[in-house]
Amino acid sequence: MRMTGVLRGLAVLFTLLTTWLFATTYFHRVSIKSVNLRSWLGPNDMPTKASKVRYSCGNQRNCPENTFAFKIISGAANVVGPSMCLQDTVFMSAIKNNIGRGLNIVVVNGTNAHLIKMAAFDMYSGDVKDLVMFLGGIKQGSLVLIASYDDPATKLNDEARKMLTELGSNYASKLGFRDNWIFLGGKGLKNKSPFEQYLKNNKDTNKYDGWPEMLEMEGCVPKKVD
Ligand SMILES: *[C@@H]1O[C@H](CO)[C@@H](O)[C@H](O)[C@H]1NC(C)=O
Repeated sequence: MRMTGVLRGLAVLFTLLTTWLFATTYFHRVSIKSVNLRSWLGPNDMPTKASKVRYSCGNQRNCPENTFAFKIISGAANVVGPSMCLQDTVFMSAIKNNIGRGLNIVVVNGTNAHLIKMAAFDMYSGDVKDLVMFLGGIKQGSLVLIASYDDPATKLNDEARKMLTELGSNYASKLGFRDNWIFLGGKGLKNKSPFEQYLKNNKDTNKYDGWPEMLEMEGCVPKKVD
């Protein structure tokens, strides 16, 4: 009985000791590390880290002088909003709190990338007339960035589809309920835009239950030169 008590006491003491040892060495180490972080990392690591290049819009590549860098990301299902960046300016995003269900559209000057207008159009329960008005006011020489969120198409009519097609889109004519679509086109383009991605809502291939995988596209779009 007494023997067990002594053993138990020793065990408790041992646990306390190791805990204390662990704690002191652990905190000791941490404090040494934080104090000597710079020298510990070595003088060569710091400049490398600081000079790590970050490209416009966070893109993988640098864009040539006569182009604008862009990145367009569609919405993911009805949960994560889309985002659109041009020349390192994020015009629309969830963080900016200016996106909406449907079609998100940014119009910029194709020569200097200055914002002309931007808006979100609810294509599930909104009025397509608002979209037609907006598209009708786009001037020659403008660049147009579009990202879908949730449902881009229920309210689309032939007039709106035709106007989007005239901006250089291949898919505006067939856009359907909960399809995903990202696009960069322009007013007065002679050909179809190469900057477009489209994913059909298909329950057999959808990543999410009722929606396809989100889309992401980045690149360099030529500036308009007169
Ligand atoms: C773009 O900006 C230039 C220079 O300010 C101007 O001359 C041109 O009309 C603008 N284009 C559009 C489409 O707004």
